[in-house]
Amino acid sequence: MSTSVLPDVLQIGRLSVSPPVVLAPMAGVTTAPYRTLCRRFGNRQPFDDATLPPGDASTASGGLYVNQMITARALMEGHKKMLHTARFADGEAPRSIQLYGTDPYWIGEAVRKLVGEGEVDHIDLNLGCPVPKVTRHGGGSALPWHHHLLRNIVRAMVNNAEGVPITLKFRIGIDDDHITHLDTGRIAEDEGASAVALHARTAEQAYSGTARWEAIGELKEHVTSIPVLGNGDIWEASDAQRMMAETGCDGVVVGRGCLGRPWLFQELSEAFTGTEITPAPSLAEVGQIMTTHLDLLIDWLGEDRGTRDFRKHPGWYLKGFPVGSQVRQQLNQMKSRDEMLAVLGSLADEPFPPEAARLTRGHSHGPRRVALPHRWIETRDDPTPPGAAAAAYTSGG
Ligand SMILES: Cc1cc2nc3c(=O)[nH]c(=O)nc-3n(C[C@H](O)[C@H](O)[C@H](O)COP(=O)(O)O)c2cc1C
Repeated sequence: MSTSVLPDVLQIGRLSVSPPVVLAPMAGVTTAPYRTLCRRFGNRQPFDDATLPPGDASTASGGLYVNQMITARALMEGHKKMLHTARFADGEAPRSIQLYGTDPYWIGEAVRKLVGEGEVDHIDLNLGCPVPKVTRHGGGSALPWHHHLLRNIVRAMVNNAEGVPITLKFRIGIDDDHITHLDTGRIAEDEGASAVALHARTAEQAYSGTARWEAIGELKEHVTSIPVLGNGDIWEASDAQRMMAETGCDGVVVGRGCLGRPWLFQELSEAFTGTEITPAPSLAEVGQIMTTHLDLLIDWLGEDRGTRDFRKHPGWYLKGFPVGSQVRQQLNQMKSRDEMLAVLGSLADEPFPPEAARLTRGHSHGPRRVALPHRWIETRDDPTPPGAAAAAYTSGG
């Protein structure tokens, strides 16, 4: 594959995404405040500038920033937490969300509701979650094995979407003996989905080892009528370009690489336009970005909940910096904005340690045996949705 010309626009149905970069849905992370921060970076706007970044229902400027996963059935039953998760920031455009479910009826109805109420401009289907409490009930990364059921789900989504692009995000398969990515890609194409994204690991691998980008190349050769996005182990902008050059994929989905490094979207934007990459921020500048991130969360959730929600982020922001465990612990337990500012103010400035970009953040567990429903492997052709328990799952992954 030639490395010379990489596309700088990705067309997902009626949605143009430029650069061809997507913030991966990440439960508990890709909240409206975090999406806003990443989107500002992707548009090369000062991170503390509250002016709305450009973009509308059909133009994802600076990349596409996907909301967290919501459970179709919980949404339809009006669960408060789910309705809150499904919210977007004022002026956020386009509005992109991921759905989880195992029953064509509930997923179809959730799409109808979101689209009918004018709530979304893009809907992704979660087929990659490897968490045992999900796969044990046939959901997430277990679902593609039951290909007729999957087809019925995608069909219900597309039929109710009124032209809003539907995409599928999945893994290579359950394990090396039960590979499904090519069949899933074909189902997506047949049923009118607008793009597919492959996290190039099996469910058994979970987050361990290195993503198998060659499977992305294989999928790209197999799926010819809609874009194929690659996902897994993009830590720096050069990884995104290498993935596209090596696999021929049409765009990239970025997960853990941006945890504590929302400026990765600026680097990606610069790389795709051939602009010189802005140097990574120093520790003092990272402190300012953390403060803006916390302020956005406080505006969204109030000081108490916003501060609590932020506690998962400092460890990622400070990864690789020479900051002692006592400081890290204080930030992990902070109760207010003032407390964070006092702790950050006590730190001497440091340049960004270049090796920090590639230090794993977020999940790294696996491999582990995939929990499946009784006789799930043997009943591959059964189109019946698994039991209601799967629909109760709410925490992503
Ligand atoms: C904290 C966290 C939460 C996640 N939640 C979801 C989710 O809700 N839906 C989903 O499809 N993938 C989820 N993922 C998986 C990512 O979207 C992505 O596929 C995976 O991390 C591999 O990409 P990466 O190597 O760029 O991180 C999650 C990952 C992490 C680290």
